[in-house]
Amino acid sequence: MLVDMQHANLLVTGGAGFMGSAFIRHLLLNKNFQGNLVNLDLLTYAANLSNLKEIEDDSRYHFVRGDIADANLLRELQQQYHFNAIVHFAAETHVDRSIKTPQSFVETNVLGTFQLLELVRENPEIHFHHISTDEVYGSLKEEGAFTETSNYHPNSPYSASKAASDHFVKAYSATYTLSVTLSHAGNNYGPYQFPEKFIPLMILNCLETKPLPIYGDGQNVRDWLYVEDHAEAVYKILSNGKKGETYNIGSKNEWNNLELLHRLIDEVADMTSKDPEEYYNLITYVPDRLGHDFRYALNTDKITDTIGWTPETDFIMGIRKTIKWYLDNPEWIENIKSGDYHAWIDEQYGAITC
Ligand SMILES: NC(=O)c1ccc[n+]([C@@H]2O[C@H](COP(=O)([O-])OP(=O)(O)OC[C@H]3O[C@@H](n4cnc5c(N)ncnc54)[C@H](O)[C@@H]3O)[C@@H](O)[C@H]2O)c1
Repeated sequence: MLVDMQHANLLVTGGAGFMGSAFIRHLLLNKNFQGNLVNLDLLTYAANLSNLKEIEDDSRYHFVRGDIADANLLRELQQQYHFNAIVHFAAETHVDRSIKTPQSFVETNVLGTFQLLELVRENPEIHFHHISTDEVYGSLKEEGAFTETSNYHPNSPYSASKAASDHFVKAYSATYTLSVTLSHAGNNYGPYQFPEKFIPLMILNCLETKPLPIYGDGQNVRDWLYVEDHAEAVYKILSNGKKGETYNIGSKNEWNNLELLHRLIDEVADMTSKDPEEYYNLITYVPDRLGHDFRYALNTDKITDTIGWTPETDFIMGIRKTIKWYLDNPEWIENIKSGDYHAWIDEQYGAITC
């Protein structure tokens, strides 16, 4: 067993974001977890504590607002909770933002990860799991898939910062003999995703009859994975993975952006009893993203063969669940649009600028 996931004290970073909150809900609602889980999150624009409403009063759960790059805070938390493992989700994550304002990507993704690794260097009993992305491998042509030994070739400031953090994790493991694992996930989708990302943006723009922006010719290909399947994959790596290993987490579910948009339109139209043509007319081609990677795809044989994880959610079912969630939660969307979700956070935790 890599980490005793029933009794461990865990530091989860970025747990108020999309994937981190899914992992926390998964652990506290579906597993027999008996340790303490500290969610350390700076609460940037991408965070939303209402993602954790279901578990916020759970006595196993502790929320701390803070920066992963704050070494003193990390030490204080370690003294208080004696972590057995860190599950590191926190990051700046939006490629378009990284193109416009790359600095925070270096600060959080590189320097923040560095400070967490320093904490592990001081406390080598802590296992460190690093959440990375398929984007660090660069872009594929029509054929093939990245394996865990593929070369790195990041093409955006976002993927460069994630690649840099991966290298630090691997270098710390080699140099200081630390216990680490890494995972590279494909594009996640599901409930609670901030509407700057493709799937929620398209769903919400359909519902509001706004343009549906497609980069370039819409032929870029991504591999889509349901966020709860990702949470289970990370849980399984922590439980049964092997020290020092890297695992790809994908679902062999490739769609080009235009095909995916068509499918989303059909599903949204069906669920809202609208004429799909109304939505098709909203498709708007916009100039391509700078350095836009053509295709990502992951070979996931390793995690299936060695750990026994495979994704459970059929894509169309996952898309329907996701659309239904956005339809059923207008308040969550309204709070984001009005900025109220942050006004409320700032009231409780004090405003920060970032
Ligand atoms: N979303 C995807 O499709 C995808 C795919 C592969 C890998 N990943 C990786 O998964 C992780 C989570 O992605 P996500 O989509 O949930 O991100 P997200 O943008 O939804 O959430 C990121 C969270 O990190 C927090 N954060 C940012 N800077 C921080 C700091 N300095 N200190 C503490 N907290 C900070 C934010 O407040 C937010 O809650 C990231 O590491 C990302 O690179 C994401």
